Amino acid sequence: MYYPEELVEEVRERNDIVDVIGGYVRLKRSGANYMGLCPFHNEKSPSFSVSGTKQMYHCFGCGVGGNVFTFLMEYENYTFAEALKVLAERAGIRLPEEEYSAEARRQADLRSRLLEVNKEAGRYYYYQLKSERGGNAWSYLTGRGLTDQTIAHFGLGYAGRLGNELYRYLKGKGYPDELLVKSGLITVDEKRGAADKFWNRVMFPIMDVNNRVIGFGGRVMGDGMPKYLNSPETPIFDKSRSLYGLNYARQSRKNSILLCEGYMDVIALHQAGFTNAAASLGTAFTGLQAALLSRYAKEVYLTYDSDEAGVKAALRAIPILREAGLTAKVINMKPYKDPDEFIKALGAEAFGKRIQEAVNSFYFEIDVLREQFNLEDPEEKTRFFNEIAKKLLVFTEELERNNYMEAIARRYQVSYDNLRRLVNRQGAMQSVVIRSDRRERRQENTKKDKAREGMMQSQSLLLTWLAEDGELFGRIREIISPKDFTEGLCREVAEMAFRQCESGGPLRPADLISRFESKEEQAQAAELFSASLGELSGRGREKALAETVYRIKKNSLDAESRRAAESGDGQALQRIIMEQANLRKLHISLKNG
Ligand code: CTP
Ligand code: MN
Repeated sequence: MYYPEELVEEVRERNDIVDVIGGYVRLKRSGANYMGLCPFHNEKSPSFSVSGTKQMYHCFGCGVGGNVFTFLMEYENYTFAEALKVLAERAGIRLPEEEYSAEARRQADLRSRLLEVNKEAGRYYYYQLKSERGGNAWSYLTGRGLTDQTIAHFGLGYAGRLGNELYRYLKGKGYPDELLVKSGLITVDEKRGAADKFWNRVMFPIMDVNNRVIGFGGRVMGDGMPKYLNSPETPIFDKSRSLYGLNYARQSRKNSILLCEGYMDVIALHQAGFTNAAASLGTAFTGLQAALLSRYAKEVYLTYDSDEAGVKAALRAIPILREAGLTAKVINMKPYKDPDEFIKALGAEAFGKRIQEAVNSFYFEIDVLREQFNLEDPEEKTRFFNEIAKKLLVFTEELERNNYMEAIARRYQVSYDNLRRLVNRQGAMQSVVIRSDRRERRQENTKKDKAREGMMQSQSLLLTWLAEDGELFGRIREIISPKDFTEGLCREVAEMAFRQCESGGPLRPADLISRFESKEEQAQAAELFSASLGELSGRGREKALAETVYRIKKNSLDAESRRAAESGDGQALQRIIMEQANLRKLHISLKNG
């Protein structure tokens, strides 16, 4: 369904971005803007800025940005149509009725069509599981202790043995091959024709936080290989930012998450009453997943497998969780392999006890480390303490670090002062390394890059200025035109901005951002309107403005003259030289106010 641009714009204008984002992120006023901790990357000090005047957001840390639609699409993983619907409702605007004609369906964007295909597939698999043909799968699941209720809650299913039944079903619903292939559920081979990716497996639909099916995992019933098959990455399925079970876990209101490794672990935990369990999807835990978790909880209990691989995975996840500002604890499940097996053997109450006994992730790291050293040997002992000292450096808060140092000193019977000396020495060594890293990186930046970066900054500065000062356009329109914007997306943005200003209204960055399709471009556009104008006022401001206008115009004329010289266009060259001379005069008069 396509909505007219004016309607989209009305919905945008009636939803103040500060209010909307304020519902998700704690924002604090800072000058003309609001600042908060960026919800899209891990950070400890706020670099996420929301502007009420420009109705846009931009993160100086990770570069995301856009308008109120972009925000909801990114944060809630909504499609554009969904974001529009939610915001229209919020503002009490009635959208025209949606029609489900074939035409409307063709027009809907790829992401929502893929969501639809996944939903249909989920329904199909569920129906198969409940049918006679799914008998074996049903006994497999119930044989593993799952109740009917649990099976329905997680929407488990069965992919039959025929090899193309899902394809035929979806085809019957009118979905084109091309879309089905993009969903990852169907493959098309020139010789064999279309085939289902999953067959004769029990199916686990993977849902995003809004309960929409974005992919599947399928398990063989028995010991076949591979044990699990998963949907490939698609435009709606990004493993690095999804967590199985989080749609339910986030509503558990426990303020903590039980993070485990597998589908079956999540399901077993939920069935046993631990409704705050979620799992990463058979891949290493990522920073994006940590950021996602940090929206719903402060504390994460790692309940990874108790084998060597599980310990390694836990050691990798801990710093990532810490970086996201989450407290991590580790649950010991020995002698059982995973939570599923533990609960089956000892029950929910015993597992609850293990949660209470979970160790702080720092002690877990130290305990694992300790295994690698023979503390009877003085040399190894020294190395052990040096390793501890290195680890202590991750605590940047002095108080926190001191607390850990005290605890370690007590636990391993070393003197606190000795430990502190080691920590300080490690700290000094690390900062030397960091400083020389930075120097190398700086030298890599060639002069040319720097010049272009500077020009980008000037052009972004002028665009920001235009957005913030309604009078400015009238003053520069005779001097600067969109073709003077040479860098990156600046030209396109400037063209739209000038068009808006010429039609008389104020410049509306948020409206302009809507015109870009991809979120990368939206973020870049938001960034162009987020240059820092500093605290200049009066004459200082005028001077800076004159300087910026001059630099941009000069850069553009220089480029033009190079082109004219190359193509031997004498006439153009003459005109450019005149303009350059005029510009110098103008510069002098601007500078002198
Ligand atoms: N996994 C996968 N592909 C495999 C094996 C595992 O994607 N070939 C992922 C699955 O998400 C699985 C998780 O890794 O849930 C953990 O693997 P494992 O511990 O082997 O499976 P369990 O969840 O314990 O499965 P089960 O209890 O059914 O054996
Ligand atoms: Mn298992």
